[in-house]
Amino acid sequence: MSSPQSSLKKAFKTIVLPRIRIVITGLLLIIVSKSASFVAPMAMRTFIDDLIPNEDLLGIKNLVALVLVALVIQAVTSFMLIKLVSVQAQYLITELRAEVQRKVLSLPVRFFDNTQSGALVSRVMKDVEGVKSLVGTGLVQLIGGLFTAVVAFVLLIRISPTLTLFSLAPLALFAVVAIKAFSVVRPVFRERGKIEAEVKGRLTETLSGIRIVKGFHAEKSEEASFSKGIHRLFDNVKKSMIYMALVSSSSILLAGIATTVITGIGGYYIINDQLTLGAFLQFTFLLGLLISPIFQLTSVGTEITDALAGLDRTEELLSEVSEYDDSGKTPFTEPLRSLRFDKVSYAYEKENLVLKNIDLEVKRGEVVALVGTSGAGKSTLASLAASYLTPTQGTVWVNDQPLGELSLSDYRSKLGVVLQDDFLFDGTLKENLLFVKPEASDQELEKALSAAHVKEFTDQFERGIDTIIGERGVKLSGGQRQRLAIARALLADPELLILDEATSSLDTESESLIQQSLAELTRGRATLVIAHRLSTIRNANLIVVLEKGQIVERGSHEELFQKQGRYYDLYTRQAKI
Ligand SMILES: Nc1ncnc2c1ncn2[C@@H]1O[C@H](COP(=O)(O)OP(=O)(O)OP(=O)(O)O)[C@@H](O)[C@H]1O
Ligand SMILES: [Mg+2]
Repeated sequence: MSSPQSSLKKAFKTIVLPRIRIVITGLLLIIVSKSASFVAPMAMRTFIDDLIPNEDLLGIKNLVALVLVALVIQAVTSFMLIKLVSVQAQYLITELRAEVQRKVLSLPVRFFDNTQSGALVSRVMKDVEGVKSLVGTGLVQLIGGLFTAVVAFVLLIRISPTLTLFSLAPLALFAVVAIKAFSVVRPVFRERGKIEAEVKGRLTETLSGIRIVKGFHAEKSEEASFSKGIHRLFDNVKKSMIYMALVSSSSILLAGIATTVITGIGGYYIINDQLTLGAFLQFTFLLGLLISPIFQLTSVGTEITDALAGLDRTEELLSEVSEYDDSGKTPFTEPLRSLRFDKVSYAYEKENLVLKNIDLEVKRGEVVALVGTSGAGKSTLASLAASYLTPTQGTVWVNDQPLGELSLSDYRSKLGVVLQDDFLFDGTLKENLLFVKPEASDQELEKALSAAHVKEFTDQFERGIDTIIGERGVKLSGGQRQRLAIARALLADPELLILDEATSSLDTESESLIQQSLAELTRGRATLVIAHRLSTIRNANLIVVLEKGQIVERGSHEELFQKQGRYYDLYTRQAKI
């Protein structure tokens, strides 16, 4: 965790400095606005001490005009401050959100395995709001406030050093209380963002898993875990509220004391002719100008503290290494001819190898099928092929170049995946297809839909492919979802296709339909397919049997069947069911 100074410095460099023009505009505006606020108290003294005793009507007229002008200036500059600076700050939040989201999407899959999505949502949407306080009115107000305080202080000293001393003693005490409180509150704020993100994350999971929650009638336990989270949040907020209340009440108390003492001493000075009435009134006015920014400091201080905590988290995220950093990588534009695993091993956790010494090649126009019992490492192998993971040992070669040395975005643009738990977005069927190829023509769409036998069921929908399929495609059956996923892959027309159990939730009839479309889908590209239903891969060019992370058999369906080994066992066992 970084210290307040270092994060303030960092935030200044990365957030404030690039937007220094807005900040300076804001500062100029606030200085004009604050300077204008001094006109009224200054006029007060002339009004009482000179103009009234001398019955100077013209003077009064001029003075009133001057004060009015100052008021108008104040109003206009505060309006412009909001219009220019606050609106700009909101725009920056928008920009920063886009930047953080882009960054998040560029992070490797492993990052997401270890981070709650809800927490990331919070990072993207909420934490960046801190810029508002730094670039927007927060910092500007803080500096404007300090400016007012300093000017007011100088003017106060000029009126009466003793009175100033008496008024400043309680204020100094207040500053001590405030600084102390902020040092306590800062970590509390930091913690708050974290708790909020966790609670939100869990709630999101509960809602997306609503079928399981209800299926096991586990609402109570979800309620309990949510309630625990929000009470942690409550405790956190309570803690900061108490400290903030301490700051604001002590500020009110001490300011009150200062005013009362000054009234007493001021009265004494006036009676002894050491101070004119005008000067005294001016003093109290100016004291107000000195104190109000210190009050403001409380709220702006809280805001900036909160903002820095959020921006710290944003900074942390932005400093993660994107997997699409192409510096030093070779562009990969030629067609993909082959993908070859060369003695590849992989461990999710140290030492515990999930894949061992895999040698395997998929060529363009070929289908290589992976089979094996659950947990054998098939999906892991597919993840390596998709470069979601990088080998712990060994090399994945693409057209005789190591995958690790190629531009990842070039490689991924040649890739199409249909995964075990295939993902559909909330939206229409059509949108789910088009997101892989937004520019696809209606004919292309039509072709993919009929080849994947999606038309069979969309024709029954009242709104056809404009039907909304719900979050994760809940309004479709498992088989329908898979066919849609296949259509999506067909539309994307990738050079390397990875299919993880694409046919597992199909009945025999749709399976045979799908088999036809798969034959179509795999033509002319390299295909790596994982299937539990062994009947779907009989025509594969090569079948590889994985067991405990190792290849134990390889060959065509006929060869392996005749061999009566592991594949034969798997196949006959399945045929019996
Ligand atoms: N993200 C992960 N972090 C840690 N371990 C993992 C992760 N994903 C998978 N594993 C482990 O790796 C091993 C292989 O998993 P994998 O998903 O590759 O199996 P699979 O052959 O696809 O199984 P299935 O047929 O059930 O889909 C399993 O023991 C699993 O526990
Ligand atoms: Mg799997």
